[in-house]
Amino acid sequence: MTGKKRIVSGMRPTGALHLGNYHGALANWITMQNDYDCFFFVADWHALTSDYENPAHIPAFTRQMIVDWLSAGLSPEKCTLFVQSHIKEHAELFLLLSMITPVPWLERNPTYKEQIEALNNKDLSTLGFLGYPVLQAADIIIYKAEGVPVGIDQAPHIEITREIARRFNHLFGPVFPEPATILTQTSKILGLDRRKMSKSYQNAIFLSDTPEDISARVAMMITDPQRMRRSDPGNPDICNVFEFHKIYSDAEMVATVNADCRTAGIGCVECKKLMAKGLIHALAPIREKNQYYSDHPEQVDAVIVAGREKAGRVAAETLAQVRAAVRLD
Ligand code: TRP
Ligand code: SF4
Repeated sequence: MTGKKRIVSGMRPTGALHLGNYHGALANWITMQNDYDCFFFVADWHALTSDYENPAHIPAFTRQMIVDWLSAGLSPEKCTLFVQSHIKEHAELFLLLSMITPVPWLERNPTYKEQIEALNNKDLSTLGFLGYPVLQAADIIIYKAEGVPVGIDQAPHIEITREIARRFNHLFGPVFPEPATILTQTSKILGLDRRKMSKSYQNAIFLSDTPEDISARVAMMITDPQRMRRSDPGNPDICNVFEFHKIYSDAEMVATVNADCRTAGIGCVECKKLMAKGLIHALAPIREKNQYYSDHPEQVDAVIVAGREKAGRVAAETLAQVRAAVRLD
C-alpha cells in the first residue's frame, strides 16, 4: 500500500452491471487497482436521494454490484470494497460539511438542474437531493483521496468537492487534500437502439447475461441506419456493432468486417453473429464467476465485512481529526 496514491470512487446501486457501466467505469477501476490504493464503494445512500419512494430493491442491488465487481476482476486483495451506508462517519462528515457549504454552490450545479428536469416524474425538491454533492464530497475527502476516477458527467461534483475541502481547510485548518478529477474516457459503445446504454432504456447487455441472451440481444442491435437492404453497402464507422467488434473481435476479423461491410460483402445478420461469438467468449469468465459467488455467498459477505473494517478504520481516524479541528472533540 505504502507510496501508492489513494483514489476513491463510487457507483450507485442500479442492479446488474451492463457493458456501458463496464467500459465507462469498471474496466478503468480494474486497471487502476494495480497502481493506486483504491477505495471503491456502493453509494446506497446516494441511491436514496432520487429513489426514496422505492428503496426496497437497494440492498439486493448493492450486493449484486459487489458480486459484479468481483466477477469482472476487482480484487479485494488490491482494493477496499465497501458499502457507503456501513460507514456512518460519511453521514457525520456530511452534516459538518453542510454547515459550511453555501446553498448557491449547490443550486448552480449543472447536474442538479439537469436531473430535476430529466426525472420530472419524481419530487426531487428535497434537501437530500440538493445536498447530493456534499455527501459525495464527504465520501471522497473522508479517505483523504488524492484522485477520483469518474466520467465527465461527475466532474462538476468533484469541483464542488475541492471547493468544500478548501473551505474547510481555510476555516478550521488543513485536514483535507484537494482531490484531482481523473477523467475516465467515455465508452464508445451504445445500447441496442443506439441511445446511451442504460438499464432504464432496456437497451443494455449485462455482464451476467447468458450466451442465449447475448445472441438474442445482439440480433436486435441497430446497425448502420442507412443500410436498408443486404445488397446496400454499409458504413462501419457509424455502426455500433462495429464498435463492439473493435473491442471483442481480433484484429483480423475487424479488418475483414471493415472491408466487407463497405462492399456489401457481408450482411449485418452474419456480422452480428461473428461479433456475438467474441462477446460471449469475453463474458464467459465473468458469468462463471457470477455463478461462483452466488454459490458461495459467504465469500461475498467476507469481502463486504473486510471492506467495512478497513474503510471504517480510516474514516474513524479522519473524523477524529475533523472533530478536533471544529472543536467538537
Ligand atoms: N455520484 C456518483 C454517480 O452517480 C456516485 C458517487 C457517489 C461517487 N459518491 C461518490 C463517485 C464519490 C465518486 C466519488 O456516478
Ligand atoms: Fe454494421 Fe456489420 Fe452491418 Fe456493417 S455489416 S453495417 S459493420 S453490422
